Amino acid sequence: MPITTLDELFEHNLKDIYGAEQRLLESLDEMAGEATDREAKKMFQQHKKETQGQIKRLEKVFKTLGMKAEAQPCPGMEGLIKEKKSFSKEKPSEDILGFYNLHAAQKVERYEITAYEGLIEAAQHMGMDEAVDLLQQNLDEEERALDLLKQLASDYEVEQEEGEETGQEEDEEEKAPATSGGRKR
Ligand SMILES: [Fe+2]
Ligand SMILES: [Fe+2]
Repeated sequence: MPITTLDELFEHNLKDIYGAEQRLLESLDEMAGEATDREAKKMFQQHKKETQGQIKRLEKVFKTLGMKAEAQPCPGMEGLIKEKKSFSKEKPSEDILGFYNLHAAQKVERYEITAYEGLIEAAQHMGMDEAVDLLQQNLDEEERALDLLKQLASDYEVEQEEGEETGQEEDEEEKAPATSGGRKR
């Protein structure tokens, strides 16, 4: 059915972000698992917990509409997750993957921030104070997460290769434990 009213649009976007947040739990786990930088790992684990709280808040927003929470696939978030996964499959070094993930996660946060801003504006237009308050709490967490990711990325030290390497050395490096990369002291 075509969407023609603001409340229908709000409902559509709410289902979309509800689906996206659920989809992100797995992705945050994956990025925490891939992180060799202790601070980054902690950040991803912490944001996963926040995301679980955000999902609960979204369920309360559905309640304010007198609706049961319902997710719909979010093609935007799906695309960001797909992009990240296909980069992991190219088997980058661990510290490069760690650096890449800090920016992949920033793309996700920016997506979420824009989604929440749109929902909040619509809720304000409709005078839905309780929903505005709940959505604002989620937005605040996403903004803090983005700031932290930016800081982690700017402090991240990526190992630079010196000179050319032979294929054999590269093989040895792939088997090496994750000791390189990480934060500047
Ligand atoms: Fe989120
Ligand atoms: Fe987030």
